Amino acid sequence: MNTPKKPIMLFDCKTSQSIIGRENFLNAFEKILDHGAYCQGPETRELDAKLAAYSNVKYCSTCGSGTDALTLALMAWDVKPGDAVFVSSFTFVSSAEAPVLLGATPIFVDSEADTYTMDPKDLKRAIEEVKKEGKLRLKAVIPVDIFGSPCKYDEIIKIAHENGMKVLSDSCQSYGSVYKGRRCCSIADMSATSFYPTKPLGGYGDGGAVFSNNEEEDALVQSCRVHGMSKEDHYDNVRLGMTGRMNTFQAAVLLQKLKVFDQELKDRYRVAKRYDEELSDYYGKQKILDDCQSAYALYTIHCPDRDELMSYLKENGIPCGTYYPRPVNVQTAYEKWNTRSLPICENLSKTALSIPMTPYLDDEDLDYIISKMNEFAAKKINRAA
Ligand SMILES: Cc1ncc(COP(=O)(O)O)c(C=O)c1O
Repeated sequence: MNTPKKPIMLFDCKTSQSIIGRENFLNAFEKILDHGAYCQGPETRELDAKLAAYSNVKYCSTCGSGTDALTLALMAWDVKPGDAVFVSSFTFVSSAEAPVLLGATPIFVDSEADTYTMDPKDLKRAIEEVKKEGKLRLKAVIPVDIFGSPCKYDEIIKIAHENGMKVLSDSCQSYGSVYKGRRCCSIADMSATSFYPTKPLGGYGDGGAVFSNNEEEDALVQSCRVHGMSKEDHYDNVRLGMTGRMNTFQAAVLLQKLKVFDQELKDRYRVAKRYDEELSDYYGKQKILDDCQSAYALYTIHCPDRDELMSYLKENGIPCGTYYPRPVNVQTAYEKWNTRSLPICENLSKTALSIPMTPYLDDEDLDYIISKMNEFAAKKINRAA
């Protein structure tokens, strides 16, 4: 099969510009140049309202990044030294970085081999271990909707609440995903998402948001977002906070991107469906829970000869990425908290490979990617026979 005429991309952060129309971005930027509220201007408030409505959540507070969103939510819960925060390890570092920045102790939890998300059974085990040791307060659980796939919310929330803990979902990869009829970002006690350019709803720079149905918690997030500022007296900072505001230009970009978001999601499903149906069974495919829908931040498979497959695909002009070659618990800065055995995370870090996933892959691209993947699989199967 011939290589497609245009290069295949792992992510595509640009094509939607021409669909939305560059002039719409430029007009929106001009308005901001005119009104001059460059941080947390009126566009950010419009975005808060639209994102909250889309997710069917009462409160959304946009902020500087997904990492800020995670940190702000934990600040609102007063997470501090002596607190145990249970967190997925097969994830981007920020999921654990946020509690560590606040002085809490991350307790890493293993994933499931098929969904790649937090294993509720291992969460239970980890909680029992911490209880038995008796040194830390049980504070919060941070499951991750990895690659956009919703985690086992019902089970995780039940376990957390039974143990007096809140759940903060790291939905940085799952804005637009659906868990049993409800949008991710509306299920846990609080949720954090990211608008980093490669995310399902990607901006043109950093951005994030915290979601909650609790007015008091949202007010705390808003205060922490501006250095712990008091609502009544802006020169009195009543708690510790950070510079976590969203840039108004970013909000304007995201308001434009929202116009094509639903169509982009549909196109991501179209791509995933072809992979699901046509990729060889030689590959394990990330399992999406029943009655759930991933926003497919990434489409990820696993296979024993991942590194060989990666070289083969790259030689054939198909970009791919290893997310994540090291679970967080074995990264240098986190080694001192690497206290538990996480065999599934370890295995996924050696076998998982993300292949091109953008709403703008056409049939020619997909025919080519699928044929090359299946060619590799057939060689492996024949060799083993
Ligand atoms: C699972 C996960 N958590 C947190 C983050 C952090 O988001 P940001 O890069 O916007 O700080 C990311 C982004 O890469 C992510 O993928």
